[in-house]
Amino acid sequence: MAKRLNIGMIGYGFMGRAHSNGYCQAPHFFPSEYRPVLKAVAARDAEKAKAFASTWGYESIETDWRKLVARPDIDAVDICTPNNLHCEIAIEAARNGKMILCEKPLAMNAEEGERMCAAVEKAGVPNIVWYNYRRVPAVSLAKQLIDEGRLGRIFHYRAVFLQDWTISSDLPQGGAALWRLDAAAAGSGVTGDLLAHCIDTAIWLNGPVDGVTAMTETFVKERMHNLTGRVEKVGIDDACAFLARFSNGSLAVFESTRYARGHKALYTFEINGEHASIAWDLHDLHRLSYFDHRDASRTRGWRSVHVTDGDMPYMKNWWVPGLQIGYEQSFVHQVADFLDSLSTGTPAGPTFRDALETQRVCDAVLASARTGAWTRVGA
Ligand SMILES: NC(=O)c1ccc[n+]([C@@H]2O[C@H](COP(=O)([O-])OP(=O)(O)OC[C@H]3O[C@@H](n4cnc5c(N)ncnc54)[C@H](O)[C@@H]3O)[C@@H](O)[C@H]2O)c1
Repeated sequence: MAKRLNIGMIGYGFMGRAHSNGYCQAPHFFPSEYRPVLKAVAARDAEKAKAFASTWGYESIETDWRKLVARPDIDAVDICTPNNLHCEIAIEAARNGKMILCEKPLAMNAEEGERMCAAVEKAGVPNIVWYNYRRVPAVSLAKQLIDEGRLGRIFHYRAVFLQDWTISSDLPQGGAALWRLDAAAAGSGVTGDLLAHCIDTAIWLNGPVDGVTAMTETFVKERMHNLTGRVEKVGIDDACAFLARFSNGSLAVFESTRYARGHKALYTFEINGEHASIAWDLHDLHRLSYFDHRDASRTRGWRSVHVTDGDMPYMKNWWVPGLQIGYEQSFVHQVADFLDSLSTGTPAGPTFRDALETQRVCDAVLASARTGAWTRVGA
């Protein structure tokens, strides 16, 4: 009989659904000593919380997250709220001795992130941040190939994350669904929202980032604010491009915008090494492109590896070779790895401390964009 892990979820939006699905699916595909139990969901609106609880099978609701994190029957708190609440909720949850699964970015800035790390480390509670792209099998395979030394010395890292949903100047900022445009709730624009994913993947695959030089732009300077009813200055970055140098000597180019007409969620990266290159595209997430210069010249070329075989990361637990999986499984994998970490005692990453590194890079990017200067990470 599996041990119960009672989940208390805060927030029931996009990520609330993605994580709930992860908790429901993980035990079906990744047997574990622990079984997540959807114990409670917290949301301010009782009717909406009840509807969400009934859709996903949560046993109870709370309308105040503070009550949820204090409940003795909750083992793990899952933070799926806008970014400005991550720090306060995590610190309170840690104080109550709860394990914490926190959405990304870890915090509004590294200072908050430091306090969150201190809180979970003092409480000694397992913690993880939902940088889920690490657990797309093709991305995990890229990590294996790099760690095996298949690429040799790495020269270049290139990543973009493009969207096009905020181009209209009529779009308001703030409140449900549009909190991402409100600096007070989001902390930053594309840097914390989209580039944070690219940075987490990059650090995981290619090691620490030493320094950056960045530029940002806010194309629409004022928007109606849903919470105040007034037209207010926009405080987020609509677009950001930055150059970076990794500790291993490789160079990087990162770009993100919500003004790339035609792109909904185009996250791609490419890594060029001495012997081989790797490329990945979220729109075709079950494929990994690989070029190896050591292949015989007459058949050398980019291969598109269909990441569905049983010896590829996570895939033996799914269907049969040739049948692919999708976006939602990255969350299932994160739940499975978190449950495994409770059995083995080896933390599943990224922990809060790992995610703080990404936060530091984001802070350096935003600082560099303000000053125009090359900025060392953590300076
Ligand atoms: N890992 C990923 O790929 C990914 C994708 C999207 C969002 N995110 C992150 O997940 C978090 C949530 O984003 P989302 O897209 O799910 O947003 P969302 O707007 O869809 O949902 C946010 C939820 O938080 C709730 N909420 C807000 N204030 C609250 C409060 N005081 N008490 C309780 N609930 C409150 C809202 O009612 C809503 O249910 C953000 O930190 C975001 O950056 C991560």
